[in-house]
Amino acid sequence: MLRLLLLGVLVLAMAVGSVDSKHNYADALTKSILFFEGQRSGNLPPSQRMTWRKDSALQDGFYLHINLAGGYYDAGDNVKFNFPMAFSVTMLGWSVIEFGNDMGSDYQHALDAIRWGTDYFLKCTRLAYKNIVYVQVGDPYGDHACWERPEDMDTPRTAYAVTFKHPGSEVSAEMAAALAAASLAFKSVDDPYSKQLIDRAIEVFRFADTYRGNYSDSVGKGACPFYCTNNGYEDELVWAAAWLYKATNKAEYMQYVRDRIYSISKIVTLGTIAEFGWDSKHAGINVLIAGMFKNEEKPFSEFADRFLCALLPESHDRWVDYSPGNYFLHISIFKNNKNCYNLGGLLFKAASSNMQCVTALSFLLVTHGRHLINTNRPYYCESRLTDPRRLIQHAKSQVDYMLGTNPAGMSYMVGYGKKFPQYIHHRGSTLPSLDKHSKPIRCRDGDGWFASKQPNPNELTGAVVGGPYPDDFYPDNRHDVGRSEPTTYINAPLVGVLAYFKAHPK
Ligand SMILES: *[C@@H]1O[C@H](CO)[C@@H](O)[C@H](O)[C@H]1NC(C)=O
Repeated sequence: MLRLLLLGVLVLAMAVGSVDSKHNYADALTKSILFFEGQRSGNLPPSQRMTWRKDSALQDGFYLHINLAGGYYDAGDNVKFNFPMAFSVTMLGWSVIEFGNDMGSDYQHALDAIRWGTDYFLKCTRLAYKNIVYVQVGDPYGDHACWERPEDMDTPRTAYAVTFKHPGSEVSAEMAAALAAASLAFKSVDDPYSKQLIDRAIEVFRFADTYRGNYSDSVGKGACPFYCTNNGYEDELVWAAAWLYKATNKAEYMQYVRDRIYSISKIVTLGTIAEFGWDSKHAGINVLIAGMFKNEEKPFSEFADRFLCALLPESHDRWVDYSPGNYFLHISIFKNNKNCYNLGGLLFKAASSNMQCVTALSFLLVTHGRHLINTNRPYYCESRLTDPRRLIQHAKSQVDYMLGTNPAGMSYMVGYGKKFPQYIHHRGSTLPSLDKHSKPIRCRDGDGWFASKQPNPNELTGAVVGGPYPDDFYPDNRHDVGRSEPTTYINAPLVGVLAYFKAHPK
């Protein structure tokens, strides 16, 4: 009886929630970009829309006689980690390059979000010609020991550099990639700025490639265990070269990529890093390069095809998990019905902050799927001729889950939908704004607000949290960092994905 009843309800749900969806992608896009204003460090401009945030960390770098003000706080803390920050800016750049035309009134805001990062990277890389690059501001141990608003920070704002003696190729190369991607995003709107960015990207890449090493070794405890490079720096060097090729069209960069793509792919087939994110660029390189050619380009196109095929819930070689989610959609009678794709649950790859995998991989699904459609190349997924729309449809199921089509019936984006996270792990969001509480809140004086049963007083609009547990359960608890903390690299790829679905809601 129960089973029958359930099936009835599920079939009904299915009819409503299958291919069509009622999400407002335009609203979600606007909010996904607004989030970056909440993460801003430095001197806020009059155009700042998230007004509960104020100026902060204006003296970063001053003790070393260098101006490192600006950039983004990484997540719920107040450290500026350039490695993940640069990946976020690269993905914002890629979002604008691919989907800027779909952004409408948010196009300018997306450019502003990129520039907030690249203005800071220009400061960090000013001495790249002398083989010195700043890669982080803020001692993470000091920062994590306090629960403070960025505006009150009195923790050590240590500035970390990599040099020819103590190199950091992954972080420097990722900054080069960000500068190159941004130079393309600004090409049609601000040519002098675009030129400045590409010149710097070339210089920073030269430094990263000439003096090789892991920044975890050079920066030491400031970087690792926070953002350790788990798969080395080779992939970032190749990724940066791929971006430099896209931005300059110079054959030397393409040759650099060709010479190394098999060696970094070997690491992937051996296991461990089959993903795309701030530490792992392999799949992104293949989708990026494949997207530059009209015909199949060996081996990039094939690598990209295979990688994305193996992501789909129906793939035999699948290397990611799915939450039970909308498990009813797996019922076999629906499986071969082309009008009713198997939506699956939420993609699971990471033990914590899993949404970063969902957004980054969704970006690749949409970008590559669209490329296959536009170039009319037959797509084989596990030797079956497959409609590339399947890739896009699958990304849509992930975004829809994130926005509220899920068992918890909630959106995982703050401020979007009727029900969304209220207790995110984020210092600024949990503590009253300077407007409401002008006296400084010192290191541990914020503990009471952290422990409070009340929802966060400041809405960090657009922030996407780490997401639910693999069984679709979300506790909405500030202590549960892996679930409730937003990060810049969760949102950055999502910006492009939402722009696409804003323009193609069906
Ligand atoms: C860099 O880190 C990776 C991953 O931990 C390691 O395999 C590699 O040997 C390191 N490279 C150097 C030069 O230390």
